[in-house]
Amino acid sequence: MRRTIVAGNWKMYKDTHEAALFVDAFLDRLGGLPAGVEIVLCPPFSALFAVGQRVRRTRVRLGAQNMHWEDCGAYTGEISPPMLVDLGVAYVILGHSERRTLFGETDDGVRRKTAAALAHGLTPIVAVGETAAERDAGLTTARVVAQTQAALEGLPAGAVAKIVMAYEPIWAIGTGRNCDPEAANEVMRAIRGAVEGLAEAPILYGGSVKPENVAAYAACGEIDGALVGGASLDPNAFAALIASAYVQR
Ligand code: PGA
Repeated sequence: MRRTIVAGNWKMYKDTHEAALFVDAFLDRLGGLPAGVEIVLCPPFSALFAVGQRVRRTRVRLGAQNMHWEDCGAYTGEISPPMLVDLGVAYVILGHSERRTLFGETDDGVRRKTAAALAHGLTPIVAVGETAAERDAGLTTARVVAQTQAALEGLPAGAVAKIVMAYEPIWAIGTGRNCDPEAANEVMRAIRGAVEGLAEAPILYGGSVKPENVAAYAACGEIDGALVGGASLDPNAFAALIASAYVQR
């Protein structure tokens, strides 16, 4: 049985004080949230320690938003897998479209990072998604399948099953234009069929997920949770979203 996961991607928001305020308020709501949902908070690097300290003895898991694939070296400005492990990080988002489009991240880089995360016991959340132009041209499935195969190339099926995939249509991220749940479900089916081992891996939907629309995604058979940007910045909205994301399967 695949697990349900809701991950909050804070992007470049919240200093350590704001992060601590969020966690304190969110932990107050935790007791009322469904036990069947794995909750992941992905603050910026600078707040990982502060958030990690606060969630250490709770069911909330810590996630990072990116990392380098090498353990150490002359890579100014980068953070390595062992450094994340040292901070208690369990998950790492890789290949987010903002990394790909704004910072030149390539399929090959995502592949190296995915393998490195697995080698260090981190769970990669590998993000794929099409642009509006690709969707309009009917290229959605081809695009996300190609991205998925490139990211997971060379991994044995047993390792692939440990990955979390995130389908995030680029046109839906931060725009308020969320993807039709049934359409997202179809794309996820294609992702699952793209690589051996993905049948057992959770796939999250991301792109303008809100407390009001998350239930429609959770109800779809291929969708195992959500990767949430904007709505994860407010503790009450994020708690409400998690409460609506759980479906007894
Ligand atoms: P959004 O971001 O929920 O603000 O659309 C999602 C993401 O980028 O992961």
